[in-house]
Amino acid sequence: MSGTPVCIADFEEYARSFLPKSVFDYYQSGADDQETLAENVAAFSRWKLYPRVLRDVSVMDLSTCVLGHRVTVPVCVAATAMQRMAHPLGETATARACQAVGTGMMLSSWATSSLEEVAAAAPAGLRWLQLYAYKERRVTAALVRRAESAGYRGIFLTVDTPYLGRRRADVRNRFRLPPHLSLKNFSSSELAFSSGKDFGEDSGLAVYVAEAIDATVSWEDVKWLRGLTSLPIVLKGILRADDAKEAVKLGVNGILVSNHGARQLDGVPATIDVLPEIVEAVEGKVEVFLDGGVRKGTDVLKALALGAKAVFVGRPVLWGLAYQGEEGAKEVLQMLKEEFRLAMALTGCRRVEEIDRTLIRRHQVLFSKI
Ligand SMILES: Cc1cc2nc3c(=O)[nH]c(=O)nc-3n(C[C@H](O)[C@H](O)[C@H](O)COP(=O)(O)O)c2cc1C
Repeated sequence: MSGTPVCIADFEEYARSFLPKSVFDYYQSGADDQETLAENVAAFSRWKLYPRVLRDVSVMDLSTCVLGHRVTVPVCVAATAMQRMAHPLGETATARACQAVGTGMMLSSWATSSLEEVAAAAPAGLRWLQLYAYKERRVTAALVRRAESAGYRGIFLTVDTPYLGRRRADVRNRFRLPPHLSLKNFSSSELAFSSGKDFGEDSGLAVYVAEAIDATVSWEDVKWLRGLTSLPIVLKGILRADDAKEAVKLGVNGILVSNHGARQLDGVPATIDVLPEIVEAVEGKVEVFLDGGVRKGTDVLKALALGAKAVFVGRPVLWGLAYQGEEGAKEVLQMLKEEFRLAMALTGCRRVEEIDRTLIRRHQVLFSKI
């Protein structure tokens, strides 16, 4: 990259040249053939915008509410594990960037900073904890209790990871955490994914998940979690209308339409393509969010036009962290915010409530050769 970044791809290019290969690969990879990885981004292009004109867009309000809390822009940060590989301050830098911009951060259970450290770094920030179902449910329950005490405003339960997706680069690189880092929410070296352990020829994280995370996880666990906490619960990783309806029935507060950044099951559709049927299925009873492939302000606008309350971004924040820590993550979020402002203005929307389904249509792809 020459000069200052002018789009999210510029941050990615910088991160590719700066980060150790095994770290960049871990952050960037999707599962298997990475079909869905490409699709998450490409699918946004098939949705076309139909702008309204002559609407006086000189004064704009980009803010909205997410699970009862105001954010200055409907772009929040998705859980991405092990952020101290991107920058020495990792998740604490991300939390401060989110606080500065006025948006929410979902902290990974697999953070390289403890959830208390993250809360202390940005005490006025809005944050939620992402949760996995550990084989020992008391491990999961303890994280929920700590999140409650540390002022987290909700729990995102990841439901698409009974096993880790097969990310070939991580297998080839035998991905491990660098020795100076650990998953700081856990005190035992087993759960902290410490590099001293022998993970054999495989991706260390895949071995960790097989050993620690519970493949028996089921709807019963959603009921269990609902009984455990009064914090809002969002299921992260829903791609089907029937699953969304079941989630609503069990009393969750939100659905995050997500394919885990294409890192779990390859061959699933882009999230933007399944968003409309999920929005329809929940009939306005809970908030619906989207992540996966959001890289531009127009992507944010498209997701909101199709009914998302807000979007989450994963990799772009890692590229920002690699670029300049807290400042870099803030730059990424500000860039998306300004791009979203422009997209709103150029579609004639002054407030997010004015973004509606009439602004967007899906164009058919015509193949010239078969
Ligand atoms: C490096 C990396 C680590 C991730 N770690 C987690 C995690 O710990 N828990 C989780 O639920 N999702 C995790 N995700 C998935 C993200 O929360 C999110 O669904 C995804 O990154 C969104 O796609 P995007 O990167 O295209 O924005 C991770 C994604 C990446 C890229």
